[in-house]
Amino acid sequence: MKKLFTIFVAAAAISAAAHATTAFTDAKDAVDYRQSAFTMIRHNTGDIGEMLQGKVPFDAKRVQQRTDALAALAPLPWPAFSTPGTESGGGDAKPEIWADFKDFTAKADKFQLDAKALQTAAQSGDQAKIKAAFAAFRGNCKACHDKYKAD
Ligand code: HEC
Repeated sequence: MKKLFTIFVAAAAISAAAHATTAFTDAKDAVDYRQSAFTMIRHNTGDIGEMLQGKVPFDAKRVQQRTDALAALAPLPWPAFSTPGTESGGGDAKPEIWADFKDFTAKADKFQLDAKALQTAAQSGDQAKIKAAFAAFRGNCKACHDKYKAD
């Protein structure tokens, strides 16, 4: 039993150490981390979009869950762009990001504010409000990708 406990503590220590490096000291991890966050953002955004377009039935509760997820996901990618060397870590991030990091960060900040506004609109249950907030939120993707993401 004591031995098992020791193993458990050792495993926890190793996993804590692994977490400490994720996204913040290793360039490849940083790229994986931000790409994973963007993938989750895309899934949640796509589902809301399909509901608003009537491709799948509108479900106010699910929209709320999706926007809760987006509000939580929206802050995640950005610290992984500050890791030194992530310019060359692979992926589709353009060097323009680090040439004008202030502008990139401003776009990331606006994206997060619009994610919060979308979450608030979803809580109202008002489809017109949700549509307007979603259009504003969705506009952030292209505005940033056109300038800062390859292809
Ligand atoms: C402020 C800039 C910015 C905003 C806003 C933004 N993105 Fe991105 N996105 C990027 C960059 C930069 C990359 C490339 C990341 C990399 O490969 O390192 C990216 C990559 C992606 C990827 C590819 C992930 C992969 O696995 O390679 C998807 C999908 C994506 N974004 C979806 C979205 C969606 C959907 C939105 C809006 C709801 C959005 N992004 C908003 C900058 C942004």
